[in-house]
Amino acid sequence: MSRAVRQTPHQDRTAEGIRTPPSERRRLASLSELESAARAALGKEAWTYLDAGAGCETTLAENRAAFDRWHLLPRPLSGVGEVRTTTEFLGLELATPLVTGPVGTYSAFHAGGDVAVARAAQRCGTAAIVPVLSSYSLEETAAAAPGAAGIFQALASGSEEGFVELAHRAQAAGYAVICLTIDAYPRGVRDRIASTGLELPEDAFAANFGGDIETEIGRHIELGRDAWSWTTVRQLIDEIDLPVMIKGVLTPETAEAAVAAGARAVMVSNVGGRQLDGAPSSLEQLPDIVDAVGSAVRIAFDSGVRRGTDALKALALGAEIISLGRTIAMGLAAGGEEGVVASLKLVHEELVTSMALCGIGDVGTIDTSILQGATRPTIGNQGSPR
Ligand SMILES: Cc1cc2nc3c(=O)[nH]c(=O)nc-3n(C[C@H](O)[C@H](O)[C@H](O)COP(=O)(O)O)c2cc1C
Repeated sequence: MSRAVRQTPHQDRTAEGIRTPPSERRRLASLSELESAARAALGKEAWTYLDAGAGCETTLAENRAAFDRWHLLPRPLSGVGEVRTTTEFLGLELATPLVTGPVGTYSAFHAGGDVAVARAAQRCGTAAIVPVLSSYSLEETAAAAPGAAGIFQALASGSEEGFVELAHRAQAAGYAVICLTIDAYPRGVRDRIASTGLELPEDAFAANFGGDIETEIGRHIELGRDAWSWTTVRQLIDEIDLPVMIKGVLTPETAEAAVAAGARAVMVSNVGGRQLDGAPSSLEQLPDIVDAVGSAVRIAFDSGVRRGTDALKALALGAEIISLGRTIAMGLAAGGEEGVVASLKLVHEELVTSMALCGIGDVGTIDTSILQGATRPTIGNQGSPR
């Protein structure tokens, strides 16, 4: 199998490009302001769709609480000057370890949808994980932001030929990585969303299929009953040329299965608490997963990240890139492309400041020595193939 990693034509990948000018700081000056602006911009239904989790939202809350159980240790006078955040992930050169996550309903929050998100990612020198469920085709998004549309997210259900065809289309459009979401089916029980009942526009989210979103999701759920097995995943990974990152890994066992199937990266994720209520937080699971597979594959992380300090804690526990879901959707709702740029910059700037306060001058050297918590892990980043 060919595993050639294509370098996407990232331009402007400097930490300089991601600094916020003072005028912009005044408009959306903090992440809480961004959340309030998003809430004000969206109706109750769309806000609930963005914000809610599964069941009684134990896992949603746990995703946030897990960050509070770790403390960051300041290291004053450690001689940190310029902080470097540039990093590489499966061939993508990134100005920051923060990437925009796949949210299959971006257009429900702003008409600019995925194109606005990918353009914002490009302006910040980072990558967008572009979801298959979108009101823009993968080709349209890639054409609008060729420097950012680096990772295309597909679903591990439905027709196998359809997946291979999508992967070939993604490769032809310039994407360098396929992100395969394995935990989307069956859809979680979402009480709060069920009670407000968001009406999605008829044809809004299925540009990659030419159908309407509800039909498409329904078809996937239907097919998801005969969900793919790991054998199928392995065969399909062998059949395509792009490296595959498996998204939706929450246990070392699943991570090991992903590695055995030929994945080049895993994303530790519980879908932001939207699927299995009662599942542990992503952050709690991260050290064990890094321990199990960190020397064999690259590690991505999501679920619950709202601030730069959250990102720093996840990086310290072994994540190499951090995918932002609701934080990006909120920025999009608050101000379209500009709002997404603002949310990326706010999280990035806090990451940079916190790294400096912890005496870290380079993202590649972040490790567990900056953390203090209830259970101090013995693993670090040393094992991962940066
Ligand atoms: C409204 C919404 C739609 C989502 N749609 C998708 C999707 O189509 N595919 C996918 O892999 N993940 C999807 N996710 C999950 C996100 O990619 C990500 O895993 C999650 O939002 C991370 O948690 P956070 O929002 O706390 O950052 C969605 C999340 C939200 C909030």
